[in-house]
Amino acid sequence: MSRTEPALDRPSVEHEELHVVRGRRSGVPIAVALHSTARGPAIGGCRVKPYASLRDAVDDVLDLSRAMTLKCALADLPHGGGKTVAAVPGPLSPRERQSMIHDIADLVGSLDGRYITGPDIGTGPEDMAEIHRLTPGGAFCRPEALGGSGDSSPATARGVRAALEAAVGHVLHTDSVTGLRIGIIGFGSVGRLVGASLVADGAEVVVTDIADRRDAARHAGVTWTTSDLLGADLDVLVPAATGGLLTEDAVAACRARVIVGPANNQLGGDGVAKLLQERSITWVPDVIASAGGIVHAVCREELGRDELETNARIDAIGATVTRILTEAAGQGITPLQAAQAVAGASGPGPRAGTAT
Ligand code: PHE
Repeated sequence: MSRTEPALDRPSVEHEELHVVRGRRSGVPIAVALHSTARGPAIGGCRVKPYASLRDAVDDVLDLSRAMTLKCALADLPHGGGKTVAAVPGPLSPRERQSMIHDIADLVGSLDGRYITGPDIGTGPEDMAEIHRLTPGGAFCRPEALGGSGDSSPATARGVRAALEAAVGHVLHTDSVTGLRIGIIGFGSVGRLVGASLVADGAEVVVTDIADRRDAARHAGVTWTTSDLLGADLDVLVPAATGGLLTEDAVAACRARVIVGPANNQLGGDGVAKLLQERSITWVPDVIASAGGIVHAVCREELGRDELETNARIDAIGATVTRILTEAAGQGITPLQAAQAVAGASGPGPRAGTAT
């Protein structure tokens, strides 16, 4: 009689590094995750926001840094994925905030070039200037006047446009956004730029946000709504807020034909990509749609590309979307699976010896 071995739940580590510190000056919990440096130093923005628990913040930094590895590989950049999360208790005074930024700079500096940060929700070019001042080379997107590539939002918005046009071309067989009904969830720095550019090209745009941004909406010429837009009759839904929007319930209610937007980590669970496919909703993985910002920063600050060459590379996000949607349709797999396959074919994955 053969003896049955007890099933072992072997611990495995997918990320290369995870650092969680209490900021020496600010007391703010700061987490930096390096998912992979196989293609080059890890890059990823610095997110500053309140979290319900430290565990939530750590889960977020692990998920976000993992997505950055895929994002860099799909954009063919010589980098891997990392991310910073600072779990602030609430609004900080200018002095507390500066202490926290200095604590973040210390942590980035302690990683000896294995990680370069950038702006994200809750941070901007001025913060990057401060991090770079204390840790030279530690941050992308300093203001242009200080030698950086500046705000990454216009480039991210440009990439979203490229992805959106490719997706509606694939699904709705149109090469123009004129007359399309487009809903944007999240009217922050990127959502606003996307909305204004779509209206300028003749789309019917409706937006919502958890904060009251109806004045900004009026200014951008888009329609404001307090509905969550998930059940609205739309051609395209653009998630442009924080992640986790596409839960099973949300997808069950969704009536849009296409979902494409810059929010990171949009899927609320593993099965959701499949559910979207079953409902014939074409979802463009956020790791492609949101890549314009990093493409711009890396091309301008590291690769010596001019604005024209950089824009062409951002616009090439459209071709990547077409390739992924075509492969997904042809093989009957989800766009996420197709994206993972394309990323795997474009370069090394996580360093040999790490579980994937
Ligand atoms: N928040 C963006 C991201 O994480 C922007 C960014 C630009 C980050 C450049 C790092 C470097 O993708």
